Amino acid sequence: PLQAFIFDLDGVITDTAEYHYLAWRALGEELGIPFTREFNEELKGVSRMDSLEKILALGSRENDFSLIEKEALATKKNEHYVRLIANISPDDILPGIKDLITEIKEKGYRLGMASVSKNAFTVMDSLGLKGEFDIIVDAATIAKGKPDPEIFLTAAKLLNVDPSACIGIEDAAAGVDSIKDAGMFAVGVGSEESLAKADIIYSSTEQLSLANIMKAYQKK
Ligand code: BG6
Ligand code: MG
Repeated sequence: PLQAFIFDLDGVITDTAEYHYLAWRALGEELGIPFTREFNEELKGVSRMDSLEKILALGSRENDFSLIEKEALATKKNEHYVRLIANISPDDILPGIKDLITEIKEKGYRLGMASVSKNAFTVMDSLGLKGEFDIIVDAATIAKGKPDPEIFLTAAKLLNVDPSACIGIEDAAAGVDSIKDAGMFAVGVGSEESLAKADIIYSSTEQLSLANIMKAYQKK
């Protein structure tokens, strides 16, 4: 039986996915590598350095920079991102998320967070949600980012539950892969085409409902 829910942060709890996109897009343009929202789907859920590598590869520029230069580029993007999130507050929690968290806790399920972002704790703090989660696994705890299953497996371990008794919630294709390879049930928030591997997909967080998720989970 179901025991826990593990949430992604950026793009699920709050729309920081948009800020990551804006910051990467600005850096890409500076490097002469403009990219589309469609390409950005491949960056969602992916760690800072892996995202940079994907952008450089898109522009066939992966060999144009030393590691130190790449780190400087990643830092520049992060400084831009940090400016964009400076004013986020509990008002920025996406619609439906607060109610879902409340319901999950009322029903006695455990609650975890799996985010590869080094800014995850800051964002959770600004949203006033840090205390709501039993555990938070972020970039500091893991060796391999999404799509590797390590982050969701680590979350299940820390929650002391079996992966098969967990539901993961993600807005990124890399995140859905991570959930599925961890042996969990995957709820996708976003488009059918980018999240095809999810067990159930909602177009926005407003549509998320514990009753519907449970129905789909029990059918599996
Ligand atoms: C993920 C985002 O949550 O964190 C990615 O979906 C981002 O877009 C990644 O690149 C790493 O974030 P940060 O804050 O460590 O650069
Ligand atoms: Mg995300």
